[in-house]
Amino acid sequence: MKKHVVLYKKLSPALLARLQAQAHVTYIEQPGSAEGQQQLRAALPQAHGILGASVRLSPELLDLAPQLQGIASVSVGVDNYDLAYLNARRIALCNTPDVLTQTTADTGFALILAAARRVVELANWVKAGEWRGSIGPAHFGSDVHGKTLGIIGMGRIGEALAQRGHFGFGMPVLYHSHSPKPAVDQRFNARHCDLDTLLSQADFVCLTLPLTAETQGLIGAREFALMRPSSIFINISRGKVVDEAALLQALQQRSIRAAGLDVFEREPLPSDSPLLGLDNVVATPHMGSATEETREAMARCAVDNLLAVLAGERPANLVNPQVLAS
Ligand code: DGY
Repeated sequence: MKKHVVLYKKLSPALLARLQAQAHVTYIEQPGSAEGQQQLRAALPQAHGILGASVRLSPELLDLAPQLQGIASVSVGVDNYDLAYLNARRIALCNTPDVLTQTTADTGFALILAAARRVVELANWVKAGEWRGSIGPAHFGSDVHGKTLGIIGMGRIGEALAQRGHFGFGMPVLYHSHSPKPAVDQRFNARHCDLDTLLSQADFVCLTLPLTAETQGLIGAREFALMRPSSIFINISRGKVVDEAALLQALQQRSIRAAGLDVFEREPLPSDSPLLGLDNVVATPHMGSATEETREAMARCAVDNLLAVLAGERPANLVNPQVLAS
């Protein structure tokens, strides 16, 4: 008998057909809306599997799904799920690592270049018809090549960022993570250091950490105070790793030069956010992995993961392998 899947991420026709060949699929187009939440609540009691992203699945919500076997998140980050709860109920949680690494690192570098060279600000200035002569110091940016790249969190995405900085831009690389990574040190001539050293020495401070209880609020007023007036702050991890009020203050007071931000405390970023009024902020809409190719690869990976769980097989990307232990 076919199992039931609740889907709240649009899939390509080919992937949807693959899922539908194996399961009854209930598609919820706007899971964030009040109507979408109602549809979700109505579908959960039959659900054996869930596939989607960017929606917090609280224990209270998942209590409505007594038959649930697995969740396939179309993301590498798993901060929308309560792992202890899933483990207690032996619900498999799968994510989509690897396939998005290079694309997300590209986004990180796009933000580095855009913030340092003031690309968005100056492009808007040209569009506004303000370009009337050769530009002068008031519009100069700062160099990227040869500057020190600081990476907080040396996972897959951190490594891909280090690769770009080292080989592409001749940047010395500093990083902070739980422990040194000799292979990274060797490949990118990188140096492991404590957080404060990185904050005070890096020209670019880039966050690539997952959001966990340990990393929430990791970068706040004290940490921004350690950065230099010429520092540029980049966040491609999660907004809640940063105290956004402290970031705003550092940018307003120019105690740091600029920021390139793909993630925010609240998403979508409210249109009245004071960050949007600052010309030293480049803000993008959580688009780290958002290319056609990568989003399709992520969706394929999520479908494979979920179909494996529903078939009683071990999925390729299981976040909580303890649920399989007998
Ligand atoms: C991820 O894959 O975690 C991206 O940030 C999208 O949520």
